[in-house]
Amino acid sequence: MFSPTNTQMDMQIGLNQMDAAFEDFRQAYPAFDSTAKLDTLRATEYARLDQQGHIYLDYTGGGLYAESQLREHLELLSREVFGNPHSKNLTSMAMTQRVERARDYVLQYFRASPDEYMVIFTQNSTGALKLVGESYPFEPGGAYLLTFDNHNSVNGIREFARAKGAAVTYIPVIPPDLRADAEILERALEAGGRGRNNLFAYPAQSNFTGVQHPLDWIAQAQAKGWDVLLDAASFAPSNRLDLSLWHPDFVDISFYKIFGYPTGTGCLLARKTAMQKLQRPWYAGGTITFSSVVANDHYLTPGPAGFEDGTVNYLSLPAVEIGLRFMESVGIDLIHTRVLCLTGWLIDQLLSLRHSNGAPLIRLYGPANTHMRGGTVQVNFFDQDGRLFDCNDMERLANEERISLRAGCHCNPGAREVALGFTREDLIPCFRDKDHLTFEQFLHVIDGKTTGALRASIGLATTFADVYKYVRFAETFMDHQVADLLEPQTSRMGGNGYAALSD
Ligand SMILES: Cc1ncc(COP(=O)(O)O)c(C=O)c1O
Repeated sequence: MFSPTNTQMDMQIGLNQMDAAFEDFRQAYPAFDSTAKLDTLRATEYARLDQQGHIYLDYTGGGLYAESQLREHLELLSREVFGNPHSKNLTSMAMTQRVERARDYVLQYFRASPDEYMVIFTQNSTGALKLVGESYPFEPGGAYLLTFDNHNSVNGIREFARAKGAAVTYIPVIPPDLRADAEILERALEAGGRGRNNLFAYPAQSNFTGVQHPLDWIAQAQAKGWDVLLDAASFAPSNRLDLSLWHPDFVDISFYKIFGYPTGTGCLLARKTAMQKLQRPWYAGGTITFSSVVANDHYLTPGPAGFEDGTVNYLSLPAVEIGLRFMESVGIDLIHTRVLCLTGWLIDQLLSLRHSNGAPLIRLYGPANTHMRGGTVQVNFFDQDGRLFDCNDMERLANEERISLRAGCHCNPGAREVALGFTREDLIPCFRDKDHLTFEQFLHVIDGKTTGALRASIGLATTFADVYKYVRFAETFMDHQVADLLEPQTSRMGGNGYAALSD
């Protein structure tokens, strides 16, 4: 079984070589020099990465927190006495005030006017998307339109749409860049039933390819009578989302993706006009001003609280304000510049790697330049004969170098299917008679259909050395055969296997 050893890697890495590469990089991406502040932060706020030799390249999975965020939050919790909000006792009111401060700060951070938008705290982006999906007044004659390139939490809304009789339509993405087909989109928007409730959902940035889909689509769709759900989960961590310029009806955010801590909090930013359309399918503690068992009715609390089921994650919410203030102190435009420079260089380097017979080492899924894309670099590795290195094996081998990459489909089956060339004919059989399959039969039908890709994603604390080490790691596969990598892999399907197959 082939595996580059640490010593081999260390020898290859050689500091001089890295310095020379860095100089070339600076020449090619001169804007990088303006982001030197982030190298300082890496050494102070994110020192744990280098202390432990981690090369973290999974920012689309989750952002990393600065140490000062933790200290500030802990200091606040140690100092104050906070009770459950939603009451008029002192400790409850103190907490309510902090929760509302955090809500206001979110609006301010995204430059959203409080007259236009409200912030509903959720557990994560998925929670925000579900709130929209379950409450949107889908109807026969109406439509749910979405791009192939979408996270499963956006795809999943189609179940609500179908249940209420709305048409579900997908806009294809076109290889090799995997951008959405603008003409088909234009026609689909035009075809939306006037006078009906129509929802169009797309990601501002793909979590699979890094493609940034145009924000112009928001106004374009709204002009044709559509409500727009913009999934900003993977866009917000390194791009400015300015809601004074763009006016999507609904935006979902996971805060941990932006600043790492706390997990378990996200939000739905929603236009007040669009909120009026939503019909909650139920109510819960915290969402009502008055309800009666004997009279069998309730009043929903107006505003965000009507959508925040039960007790919000209240002790975490001050940390959202702390995180956003930290982001402001760094500067999202600086982060953006940094991420694009490193992404551009990483793509250039990976694409230049060739086996000695001239065959390319990697295939990139997504744009090969930095135009309208973010810091997500999705590839598969191939040997000289064009055989695919399993991305799960690559992830495992990267672990041996302490490089955190992510293998799989990344909850984006549409982008994966187009990227890897899976057709409807390939996949329909996987779902035939699905309720009666044994686990063994299930494994048989999906065999070969779960192939994914290897994602590197760049963020706030990424340095040149991180991407450089990934490239050096990639080089060690040149002129190696897939067979060199193989070892008995029965453990990947461990347990009942379903977890290992999670999409
Ligand atoms: C584009 C996109 N949308 C939605 C989500 C869902 O986020 P969460 O799992 O935090 O709910 C993710 C998570 O990776 C994502 O990348």
